[in-house]
Amino acid sequence: MPRPNRIVVLTGAGISAESGVATFRGEDGLWEGHRIEEVATPAAWWRDPDTVWRFYSLRRKALLDVEPNAAHHALVRLEREGPEMLLITQNVDDLHQRAGSSSLLPMHGQLRMLRCERSGRHQERMGEADLDPSTFVDCTCCSTPSRMRPDIVWFGEVPMGMDRIHAAIDALRMGDLCLVVGTSGHVHPAAGIAAAARNVGARTVLVNLEAPVNLHDFDEVHLGPAGGTLPGLVEAWLEEWNDA
Ligand code: OAD
Repeated sequence: MPRPNRIVVLTGAGISAESGVATFRGEDGLWEGHRIEEVATPAAWWRDPDTVWRFYSLRRKALLDVEPNAAHHALVRLEREGPEMLLITQNVDDLHQRAGSSSLLPMHGQLRMLRCERSGRHQERMGEADLDPSTFVDCTCCSTPSRMRPDIVWFGEVPMGMDRIHAAIDALRMGDLCLVVGTSGHVHPAAGIAAAARNVGARTVLVNLEAPVNLHDFDEVHLGPAGGTLPGLVEAWLEEWNDA
């Protein structure tokens, strides 16, 4: 593949699977018998905040026990040694940040952060008391402290950074690259990014364990684990681009 001028990368839960983070729709994708759609909605938070808080607290706490894997590191290398790149992630873990990716857009929010229900302000809250699954956390921004919610984009809410995502796709030209890693292609608007990039002439490349529902949107498909596939792919691209 000739050297692109720009790269847009989209990642999903599959890139963190080899770090031990459960995916959403795999065999281990259920949580206490609930599907993600039953706990990740504003209605679920109003109806049963205790269950939703417990769900996210356990995931927040689990961040302390996981590390970035070879696929996260490969994307850092691509960003540092390759052309201009935007890394869009649907993941709410912090493994891209911890690996060292800097041009990063977590479109579904971040587990490390909480959001004040009254002011809407975001705060990073990862202290021991903030991770208790049985106690809600109060903000420090309001005169009467108010409850904080997970800073996660729930079903029915608008993902973060959509303007930046649209601008990055609009800037792609013929010969640029859209790389998608570890996502089942079920959740929009993220699932439409490959098709949109291809429409403007970018080459679309997939790295995923199994075929996603939008398989037809890709020019090049690598089925396999991201940690075992991506480092070699990035190595080969950089070698080819640097030789050219
Ligand atoms: P899914 O759980 O739907 O899909 C994960 C994909 O990763 C599947 O296609 C797997 O085949 C693939 N996979 C699993 N292990 C892998 C590995 N080691 N290497 C490469 N691929 C692997 O997760 P997402 O598509 O990310 O949203 O889910 C999208 C959104 O749905 C999430 O961001 C979340 C959820 O609801 C919110 O929380 C708002």
